[in-house]
Amino acid sequence: MNTPAYPALRLRRTRMTAWSRAMVAETRLDPSDLIWPLFVTEGEEEAPIASMPGVSRWPVEQIADRAKEARDAGIPCLALFPNTPPPLRSDKGDEALNPDNLMCRAIGAIKDALGHDIGILTDVALDPYTAHGQDGLVNRDGEVVNDDTVSVLVEQALNQAQAGADIIAPSDMMDGRVGAIRAALEDDGYTNVQIMAYAAKYASAFYGPFRDAVGSGGLLKGDKKTYQMDPANAEEALREVALDLAEGADSVMVKPGLAYLDIVAKVKARFDVPVFAYQVSGEYAMIEAAAAAGAGDREALVLETLLAFKRAGVSGVLTYHALDAARLLGS
Ligand code: PBG
Repeated sequence: MNTPAYPALRLRRTRMTAWSRAMVAETRLDPSDLIWPLFVTEGEEEAPIASMPGVSRWPVEQIADRAKEARDAGIPCLALFPNTPPPLRSDKGDEALNPDNLMCRAIGAIKDALGHDIGILTDVALDPYTAHGQDGLVNRDGEVVNDDTVSVLVEQALNQAQAGADIIAPSDMMDGRVGAIRAALEDDGYTNVQIMAYAAKYASAFYGPFRDAVGSGGLLKGDKKTYQMDPANAEEALREVALDLAEGADSVMVKPGLAYLDIVAKVKARFDVPVFAYQVSGEYAMIEAAAAAGAGDREALVLETLLAFKRAGVSGVLTYHALDAARLLGS
């Protein structure tokens, strides 16, 4: 057998120096790839979230300052989530429709301060407002009912659009909600309000810290498996995406993130649309715990995982690390 004296090709050659690695890099991460989720609370004080070290709920009075920090770091969009005071939670989640609720006041505060300088994405689902912690209306058998829930979600979306939301992001996983919301937005003249559908949202164990943050965790009985997707399925995610696009979604989201990058890649390969991913609360907590335990360098872990999303094909990532990451990338 003839063994060549040298490898015909040395892939290490282009890796030898930083300038060369930069030249052949296939993927780049930029602050404009990041969407920063922010939690809003009543009261005057910043409220740290124990299960998400480094993340707080912010009073409405301070939310515009966070928005300015994001804008200054090059982040194009915020995602807002309210921690509704327990007395305002009800079986039907009526507080979601209050034009003066926490979300609407937070949207107003940011828009007053920054106008069109930053986008605001709002979550459509009833879980921060219901006394039972489910995303929709529950019937006597404990079942989350689809069509009546969609009617309420449409009203919730209109309430957010009226307050100034730029992107409506239904995260409830009811059937038919994107079409219903799109039609209502058109009817009411919100033709330029976008819809980012949480199209492939899985029933995941990674949402725990978020449910602490919005205060729905302790209330939730049972699980969300009758509406959120089974982690076993990928083909079904493509059907969800196809439906949401047909119903008028401008972009789609895959959630959670890291454990579902195969879904991101499949969606991107099949559909020529902007695809986003949500690196969720449990993923944030996992990275923070690893770094705190000395199992990895925090900044490196953050940037590597975010880059992986880009490599898989996303247009952007919702991440609680957005401000830190944007500042690291900008410096
Ligand atoms: C509400 C909603 C959830 C998340 C975003 N929107 C929780 C859930 O579905 O139970 C999770 C986000 C995160 O974990 O960071 N439907």
